Amino acid sequence: MILGINSQNHDASMALIDGPNILWAAHSERYSRVKNDNRIDRDMIEDMKKYGEPTQIIWFEKPLQKSLRRLWSGQRPWYDHPKFELRRVGLDHLPVEFVGHHESHAAAGFYTSKFKDASILVIDAIGEWDTVSVWKADETGLKKVWNKKYPNSIGLFYTAFTQYLGLKPNEEEYILMGMAALGKYTITDFLKKEFFSEFKPPYFKLRRNLHKGCLWWDRPGGVSDFDIAASVQAVMEEYLLETVKWIHYNLPSDNLIFMGGCALNCVANSKIAKLGLFNNIWLMPNPGDAGSAIGAVAAYTNQQLDWQGPYLGTDIDRELDIDSIVKDLLAGKVVAVANGRAEFGPRALGNRSLLCDPRGPNAKDRMNSLKRREAFRPFAPAVLAEHADTYFDMPVKESPYMQFVARCRTPDLLPGICHVDNTSRVQTVTAQDNPRFRALLEAWYAASGCPILMNTSLNVKGEPLVNSWADALRWQEINGVTVY
Ligand SMILES: [Fe+2]
Repeated sequence: MILGINSQNHDASMALIDGPNILWAAHSERYSRVKNDNRIDRDMIEDMKKYGEPTQIIWFEKPLQKSLRRLWSGQRPWYDHPKFELRRVGLDHLPVEFVGHHESHAAAGFYTSKFKDASILVIDAIGEWDTVSVWKADETGLKKVWNKKYPNSIGLFYTAFTQYLGLKPNEEEYILMGMAALGKYTITDFLKKEFFSEFKPPYFKLRRNLHKGCLWWDRPGGVSDFDIAASVQAVMEEYLLETVKWIHYNLPSDNLIFMGGCALNCVANSKIAKLGLFNNIWLMPNPGDAGSAIGAVAAYTNQQLDWQGPYLGTDIDRELDIDSIVKDLLAGKVVAVANGRAEFGPRALGNRSLLCDPRGPNAKDRMNSLKRREAFRPFAPAVLAEHADTYFDMPVKESPYMQFVARCRTPDLLPGICHVDNTSRVQTVTAQDNPRFRALLEAWYAASGCPILMNTSLNVKGEPLVNSWADALRWQEINGVTVY
C-alpha cells in the first residue's frame, strides 16, 4: 500500500493507493481548517489510517532539484527537507522515494484516463524547473518530448497579474479568469510585447523573471482592472490554443490530456475542446499540485489506476433525506448537503454543497445571503446529464467535474448561473458519477420540472470546504440552516 504525499507547496495533500485502487485522497486544509494549508495535518493521517497502513511513501518533487532552483532564483535553498516533515508527523519510519513534479502531473493525467495512448500537456507556474512540458504516453509509459524551464513561465505570468490586480497569487487566479469576461482585451498585443521577447507557442521567452510579481508595471492610461484581466486571459488562451495545435501536428493522437494548475482555467479548457483537434480530452479533476498526491504514486508505479471519481476523502455516512431537501428547495430555501465522501479537488460536486432552485432573478441573491461572493461571479449549475444539451451549448459530451464552461441557451430563465457573457461552469450528473446526488436531482426534477440545481461549495466564508460532520454542525450553528 503506497502513500503519495504533496507537501510544502500551496495545498498539501495525501493519497493512499493499493495496486490500481485509490482508497482515499484528501487535502490537509480540510482537516486543519487553514485554507491551502501547505503542511501535512495529523488528523488527515488519522483519517487515512481508516483505509489502510502504508508501507511506502512516494513524495511529489525531487528535493535536490527544487533546492538548486531555489538557490538559483535567490530563495532560501534548504527549505525543510521532506524527511524533517515526515519526522514531525510520525511517518519517518517508512521508505521514501521522490518523483519529478511535471512527471507526476503527466502521470496523474494518463493513469486516471481510460486512454491507451495520449499526448499530454502540462502547464503550471513552476515545477522543480519545468514550467511547460509535453509528453507522449502509451503502454510503454511516459516520455517527455518537449519542455520549457524556469524562469520562463506562462503560469507565473498569469499569477503575477493575479497579484497585480489585488488578488491572492497561487489561489485566486480563478477570480482573474472571472473578471476577464467583464473587460476588453485591448492590450493583449501590448502585454505580449511588454513581457515577452519571444511568443511563438509553445516557444516563448519572458523579458524578466515574474516570480516576485509585476507590481512595478505601469498600466497604460484608461485601462481598467477588467481590461487587464481580459488581456491576460487572452494571452493565456492564445498560448494554450497554439500549443495544442502544435501538439496535434507534432504528436498526433486521438487523445489529449491537459494537466498542471493552468488546467483549472475552465474558460480556456472549453476553447481547447472547441478546437476539435482531439476526439477525447481528459483533465484529471484535481490537475494542480494537490492532485499530485495521486500523480506521484502513478509516476512511480507506471500503472493504470481505477479512476472511479473524485469522492475520495472523509466519509459522512448518513442517510440523505431527499424528500425533506426537495420540500425545502420547492419552498425557495437554500439547502446544505454534507453527505458521503468529501471531494478530492477544488470543486464541491454534490457531497459538500449548497444547493438551490436556479430559476428566476433572485436565485443568486438567495445563495449570496449565505456565500457573500463578488457580485459579478455567478454560481455553477448541476444538471441531469441527459438534459445538459437542452440548456447549454456543451463543448464536451460530459462535464462531471465543472472543468468547462458552456453558453447557456436560456440565460433569462437562469440568470444566477450565467456569467456576464452568458456562460456557465456546468456539472453534468449521471448515476455513475454520484448516485446519491443523481437521486436528489431526479427527485427535484420530478417535483419541479427543472433538471438543474445551483451548486456551490459548503463552507464558512474564507474557510475550506466543510469536511466532517462536526464541521457541518458548526456551519449549521453559524448560519442557522439545516445541513442534510
Ligand atoms: Fe505543479
